[in-house]
Amino acid sequence: MSSSAAPSPSFAELLATQVRNEFTASQQYIAIAIWFDDHDLPRLAGRFHRQSVEERNHALMIVRYCLDRDLPVQIPGIDEVRNTFEKPVDLITLSLTQEKAVTAQMEAIFRAARAEGDVLGEQFMLWFLKEQVEEVATMNTLLTICVRAGDDWFQIEDHLAREAVGEAGPDADAPAVAGGLL
Ligand SMILES: [Fe+2]
Ligand SMILES: [Fe+2]
Repeated sequence: MSSSAAPSPSFAELLATQVRNEFTASQQYIAIAIWFDDHDLPRLAGRFHRQSVEERNHALMIVRYCLDRDLPVQIPGIDEVRNTFEKPVDLITLSLTQEKAVTAQMEAIFRAARAEGDVLGEQFMLWFLKEQVEEVATMNTLLTICVRAGDDWFQIEDHLAREAVGEAGPDADAPAVAGGLL
C-alpha cells in the first residue's frame, strides 16, 4: 500500500456514514411514494412507503449495534432527495441505482471489518449483504414490470395487486432495531 494514500475509513466511520445513507434512502423513498400518491398509483405508493420504513429500520439497526459495541453514534442529517420525475420507470430506475449503491457501501463496510480483524463486525454485516441481494432483485423485477407496462401505468398497479413483489414479511434473523422494529 502506498504511504501517500489517504487512510481508508475505518469500520466505525463507515457505519456512521451508513446511518446517514440509510436515512437518506428512507427519505428518498418517501418522496417516491408521494409522487406515486400524487399520480393515483396507490399500490406503488404503498410499496414505497413500506420500503421507506424498512430503510429507517436499517439505519436504527446500525445505531443499535453501535450502542451495543460502544462505537461512536450520532443521528445525522440527510443528503438531498429528488422529487421531480416524468414517469414510473424514472423512479424505479433511481431506486435500483440507489440499492446498487447501498450494496457497494455494505461490501465496503464488510471489507473494512475484515481488514481490521473485526469478526463480530463481519458477522453483523452478513444480514445486510443478504438483504441487499433481495432488494436489488426486487427492484430489478419492478423495473422489468414498469418497462413492460410502457405508458399503461395501471398494468403496474394490477401486477402489484396480484403479486407480492418483494414483500417477504418479518425476518427472524434481522438485527435488533434501536427503539424497536417499525
Ligand atoms: Fe437499507
Ligand atoms: Fe434498500
